[in-house]
Amino acid sequence: MDLFEYQARDMFEKHGVPVLPGRIADTPDEARKAAEELGGVTVVKAQVKTGGRGKAGGVKVAKTPDEAEEAATAILGLDIKGHTVGRVMVAAGASIAQEFYFSVLLDRANRSYLVLCSYEGGMEIEQLAEERPEALARVEVSPLTGIDLEFAKDIARQAKFPDELVDAVAPVFVQLYDVFVKEDATLVEVNPLVATESGDIIALDGKVTLDENAGFRHEDHAALADKSAADPLEEKAKAHDLNYVKLDGQVGVIGNGAGLVMSTLDVVAYAGEEFGGMTPANFLDIGGGASAEIMAAGLDVILGDPQVKSVFVNVFGGITACDQVARGIVQALEMIGDQATKPLVVRLDGNSVEQGRAILAEAGHPLVELADTMDDGARRAAELAAK
Ligand SMILES: Nc1ncnc2c1ncn2[C@@H]1O[C@H](COP(=O)(O)OP(=O)(O)OP(=O)(O)O)[C@@H](O)[C@H]1O
Ligand SMILES: [Mg+2]
Repeated sequence: MDLFEYQARDMFEKHGVPVLPGRIADTPDEARKAAEELGGVTVVKAQVKTGGRGKAGGVKVAKTPDEAEEAATAILGLDIKGHTVGRVMVAAGASIAQEFYFSVLLDRANRSYLVLCSYEGGMEIEQLAEERPEALARVEVSPLTGIDLEFAKDIARQAKFPDELVDAVAPVFVQLYDVFVKEDATLVEVNPLVATESGDIIALDGKVTLDENAGFRHEDHAALADKSAADPLEEKAKAHDLNYVKLDGQVGVIGNGAGLVMSTLDVVAYAGEEFGGMTPANFLDIGGGASAEIMAAGLDVILGDPQVKSVFVNVFGGITACDQVARGIVQALEMIGDQATKPLVVRLDGNSVEQGRAILAEAGHPLVELADTMDDGARRAAELAAK
C-alpha cells in the first residue's frame, strides 16, 4: 500500500525524522486557513500517489494565505498522470540550500535491503541513474545488521557528501531506516532531502510503501488505506478473504491454487484471440479447501462485475476432492439464485473427478456446461463471452 505524502510526513515525524509542519486541506478555504495557522511562506502540494507532481503544476509556493487559497484552487481537481487531486497539503516553506536523495527499499532479487543515495538531488532519480550513475550510491544493507550511525556515515561518504555534511545527514539516514523497519515498509524514499540555509536537514517529500502482509502487526495501518480509490469488487472480495484481482477482460475466472489460476489466465487470453480478443476479467484463487460458501462468495463477486460475460471455473481436485467442489458449485448457484445470469464453463480434474462430473450433470443447471480439458474450457468460455 502506497501512502500519500502527508501520511508519510506524519509517519516520519513519529520516528523522529525532521519534517516541516504541514496541514491537509480539501478546499481552497481550508488551504487559506492552514496557511494562516502556519504563518509565513507555505508550499501547497497536490496529494496524489504518483510522481512528478511539481512538473505537472501540483506544487506551488504561496507567500500569503491569499496565495495559498489561489494555489489550492489551481491544484485541486488537477489531473496528474490520471490521478485527480482531491486534497492538498499546505506545508511550511523551507529556504533550501541544497537538495539530496535518499531511499531504502526491499531488494527482492538479492534478498536484502538496498539504499540509494545521492548528494545530487533535485532531479528525477531515474534520470540521474541513467545519465550520471556514478553520482548515485547503491549500498546493500543486511536486514540482520541494519544501519547504525557509523554505517550511515559510510553511506553518506559513498554518496559523495562532503565531510562537513556527513555528520549532519547520517542520523537522518538512521531514522529513515527506522521507519522502514519498524513500519514494515518496502520503500521509504525522500526526494528531496534538503539542507536549509540555517543548516538543518529536513525531509521535504516522502514516499512510503507499506507491506500489507505485515498489516496484522500494525493496528494503525488499516486506517491509512484510501477508501475512495478502492475498487468495490476488490473490497467485496477482501471482505470474504478471497484472493481477487480485477482485470480488464470479459471472462471471469475461478480456480484453486495461484499457479493454476495464473495459467488459466494465460490459456483464456490465448483462446480468446480467436474470438475477437476476449481476455480474463479477473484473477480469483479460492484456495485449497474451497467450501460451497467460498465458491458462492467467489461467484457472487465475479457475477457482480458488469464486464463479465462468461465464467470459467477451473478446479483441480486435491485435498478438496472434485465431488465436494461440484457440490459447492451447485449449492453456490442455489444460494445466488436469480442473480446467476451468465454461462459457467466448469472443468474438473483430479481426485474424485467422475463423482464431481456426475453431480454437476445430475443437477443439470441450465447455465452450467462441463468441459473435458482446460483448453476446451477456456475456448468455450471465450466463445460464450464473445456471443
Ligand atoms: N516545504 C517546502 N518548502 C520549500 N520548497 C519545497 C517544499 N516542498 C517542496 N519544495 C520544492 O518543490 C520541489 C518538488 O517538491 P516534491 O519533491 O515534494 O514534489 P515532486 O518531486 O514534484 O513530486 P514527486 O516527488 O511526487 O515527483 C522540491 O524539490 C523542492 O524544491
Ligand atoms: Mg519529490
